[in-house]
Amino acid sequence: MIGIFDSGSGGLTVLKALRDVLPSADVVYFGDIKNVPYGGRSREELSNLTVGAMRFLHERGARMFISACNSVSASLALSLFDAFEVAPNQLVEMVGPTVACFKGSPDRVLLCATPATVRSEIYQTAFRMVGKDITTVAIPELAGAIERGERAELLQQLVVGAFQPISLDDYDTLVLACTHYPLITDIFKKAVPKSLGLFDPALAAAERVEKLCWPREVGGGSTHFILSQDSAVFRQFARTLLPGSAHEIEILS
Ligand code: DGL
Repeated sequence: MIGIFDSGSGGLTVLKALRDVLPSADVVYFGDIKNVPYGGRSREELSNLTVGAMRFLHERGARMFISACNSVSASLALSLFDAFEVAPNQLVEMVGPTVACFKGSPDRVLLCATPATVRSEIYQTAFRMVGKDITTVAIPELAGAIERGERAELLQQLVVGAFQPISLDDYDTLVLACTHYPLITDIFKKAVPKSLGLFDPALAAAERVEKLCWPREVGGGSTHFILSQDSAVFRQFARTLLPGSAHEIEILS
């Protein structure tokens, strides 16, 4: 059983990619709608929330974990995961698989993410390890606005405003390093020049999982969502991203 966790709907982008590579894996997904957004939280708060989520998913039978939240992936020391005796090959986070895709690439990289992710400096450091200096942009309100189901005009304003100080023509690739952002790819496309390619890390993370669990993760392809609070926006994204797939949604009271 694969356990996926995120603050809310963002992890659905990773689940969608996972379904493409591992259609028969059984998945339990925890979305912490009650505490979303995570991106403005301190490292200590993120640690506490993640400990709870990991414990919970473990109790529900997960033995492989995906931290489908960049804010968590970027901010937490691996020692936190050690506390659960989760071996490195049982945990996939977003940073490593993303940066590995750029090894040897000549692209000039711009990366946007939540303030927690940018502040952690983990992407900047990891990209430097593959020989690349990147520019980062934090978009403080965006994940929360997506999760509230705000209208497209407001989302567009937030995206355009964040990129205002940046000369976008100086870059080849924009990394969407918050799993909520690929939910509004169309808005990003409108806000940036056509020459700037968008990179969604979801597939890289999903392929990492596939590599680690092959050939063991063969189940019935079930998807069980557990939300810390109900959300019509989450339900709508789940229907759109996983059309025709049977899934259950359990709400914690
Ligand atoms: N989707 C998460 C991320 O990748 C969290 C966004 C948030 O809750 O602020 O960072």
